[in-house]
Amino acid sequence: MSNQAILNQFAPEQHNILEVLHAIQDNHPQNYLTKDALEETARYLGMTKSTVYGVAGYYTMFSLKPRGKHVIRVCVSPVCEIMKVNDVLLHLEKELGVGQGETTPCGLFTLEVSECLGQCQEAPSMMINEQVYNKLNAEKISEILNTYRAE
Ligand code: FES
Repeated sequence: MSNQAILNQFAPEQHNILEVLHAIQDNHPQNYLTKDALEETARYLGMTKSTVYGVAGYYTMFSLKPRGKHVIRVCVSPVCEIMKVNDVLLHLEKELGVGQGETTPCGLFTLEVSECLGQCQEAPSMMINEQVYNKLNAEKISEILNTYRAE
């Protein structure tokens, strides 16, 4: 679907900017917002380019560079930190062969960190795309990654 077709699904009102950017980013096979997409959004919503760039750059859920098909976001807020999220990150880095902010060479996964995912009672937690995974350990992480690899 083209960016314009996505934009047409929303009223051209500035308060729709977050929903619009989410929809456009989700539609891109590399999960990011291109320069063209940001400029089309600015035109459609009647906002300045710098404002739209500012919004896209402010929120960590938006990316201005290409990412993998599946974006892994690991919570590094205090409760997850207490529950040893560093072990989770180390295991993910080892399994994927990439560091934080990087994408696997096959283009399947991007590894990112995030603020609290609202899952503190079941920490440590991560999201892959829109799916939340809790009470993580090395074995569980390997199983989860394998389900995505098998798709
Ligand atoms: S601190 Fe990690 S989910 Fe809340």
